Amino acid sequence: MCGIVAYIGKREAYPILIKGLKRLEYRGYDSAGVALLNGGLNIFKTKGKVSDLEALTEGKHLTSNLGMGHTRWATHGEPNNVNSHPHVSQNGNLAIIHNGIIENYATIKEELINRGHHFESETDTEVLIHLIEEIQKASNKELDEAVRIALHEVVGAYAIVIISKNDPEKLIGARKGSPMVVGIGEEGEYFIASDASPIIEYTKDVTYLKDSEIAYINKGKLTVKTIDNIEMTPEIQKLEMNLEAIEKGGYEHFMLKEIFEQPKSIGDSLRGRFDPVTGILAMRSLKEYEHKIKNLKRIIIVGCGTSWHAGLVGEYLFEDIARIPVEVEYASEFRYRNPIINEDDLVIAISQSGETADTLAAIELAKEKGATIFGLCNVVGSSIPRSSHAGAYTHAGPEIGVASTKAFTAQVSVLVLWALGFADIRGRLSKSELSKIMAELESIPAKVEKTLACESLTKELAKQFYQSRNFLYLGRGYGFPVALEGALKLKEISYIHAEGYPAAEMKHGPIALIDEEMPVVVIATKSANYEKVMSNIQEVKARKGKVIAIVTEGDTKVSAMADHVIEIPETSDYLEPLVATIPLQLLSYYIALERGCNVDQPRNLAKSVTVE
Ligand code: F6R
Repeated sequence: MCGIVAYIGKREAYPILIKGLKRLEYRGYDSAGVALLNGGLNIFKTKGKVSDLEALTEGKHLTSNLGMGHTRWATHGEPNNVNSHPHVSQNGNLAIIHNGIIENYATIKEELINRGHHFESETDTEVLIHLIEEIQKASNKELDEAVRIALHEVVGAYAIVIISKNDPEKLIGARKGSPMVVGIGEEGEYFIASDASPIIEYTKDVTYLKDSEIAYINKGKLTVKTIDNIEMTPEIQKLEMNLEAIEKGGYEHFMLKEIFEQPKSIGDSLRGRFDPVTGILAMRSLKEYEHKIKNLKRIIIVGCGTSWHAGLVGEYLFEDIARIPVEVEYASEFRYRNPIINEDDLVIAISQSGETADTLAAIELAKEKGATIFGLCNVVGSSIPRSSHAGAYTHAGPEIGVASTKAFTAQVSVLVLWALGFADIRGRLSKSELSKIMAELESIPAKVEKTLACESLTKELAKQFYQSRNFLYLGRGYGFPVALEGALKLKEISYIHAEGYPAAEMKHGPIALIDEEMPVVVIATKSANYEKVMSNIQEVKARKGKVIAIVTEGDTKVSAMADHVIEIPETSDYLEPLVATIPLQLLSYYIALERGCNVDQPRNLAKSVTVE
């Protein structure tokens, strides 16, 4: 949801901003803009991508040591040149970039209009910079103080950066509910960004701002204060991410790179978390919350999109292996439906970005009601792990393609570990059973590697089916969340309508859709539901649907019925989602390519949904 980057120091700001915006473009790509301080305040902004901004600035005077850039995912106001960031104050002295939503902007705007302000854009952001100007003017305040007072007046979420024509050595950043990291470079230079990717090649020293904190960078010095004016000591951390991890490494798209990274990312998510000699799962969350886990009555899993699908796999795992009742909830529903939660509950919040607004709000609600929160996130230092009591990182590495792939399999991998750990603590699993499942889990990276060989087959299938208007995805048991995930991948990057269904539910409605035009992807591996799924395939075939089946290597029965089969290595039911998802990711990738879609930046989407 919008990417922001800013620089102050001795280097040329513009190249740093453009490179940074390209790295942040996964967060939004409706429009892009920069503001540079070089004598005056020079603003260049345009509807479109960062490459359009580069074209706009060609041949322009861009020399500056202080500037900021923005890539937008539109919330208030359609994506056009005027609504693009940066926005300026009425007197043209101040400029702002913003990620988030100012919920009470309409009221503030009305008051400002009454005081003679004119607005050019439809954005909430422009209102905030006018408000800061008004506070400066009305009470003769310094900029630092005016920003602080203004932030007290706004309701909503923000990560903002402000620069002023009259303060060429000043950069102000603030956050509430939207992420912001400050990089500390050489000789008094500083970087501000939505995530560390624009900063990584200049410095490894960063501090993550906390909610309601303001970073004042003035004359080469950083001061962090709360919006209540209390000075804080910034916690400086070393970035562990490397540059290679955020580049395409020879792949045409980040999504393809990330699909192919899965043998490694799953391995990284498991590494060091199980000792095969002692049979002990070495996870801090298990150790520190052993008593809680032993006594808990229920697990509630919250998440959105793909993370919610991982949560569904989690439900099956925890109930199957640890025999704990589980509810899986869309965070956006959970937070508003007055759920019954109590102190014996454990809430597991799953999120790749660790910043999803609804998931964060669900955590806050559950915390208020006394539940214990485990966060399962990929982005280190993000808001959800910081709001949780405990948790685990997925260690999948940066996921930049907007469609989530390696984050999903990493989430499922950690959920398997937790399910085993919980079962162990509650005496539901013998050491030998645990070791057996762990041995199988540790063989998954190799099985995923083998599965990736189906790439050429998915390419061929894509050529055959890319013009289909609809797809159905069917699965039972552990295959059901896989079907949901396959359908989501297809619709988000290829814009083909797709539905995931429990295979047996098909006859309660969706079967009416099936005809010779309808491709039906069925998860038909040799699981506990194998025979049942075969009956469902027969039902599809009887209505002339085209079946693409994901089958276990060497299968002959399904192969005899289906129009096309993609083989995957055999594994236990628990671990099936880790392998069966791979061909579906590849299929949607190649269908989207055939349709000429922008795979890494699908329309209307953004990687990190920091607004509700
Ligand atoms: C789908 C996708 C989204 C995210 C969802 C949650 O490919 O990427 O559905 O899964 O927006 O995001 P996180 O996991 O960051 O909370």
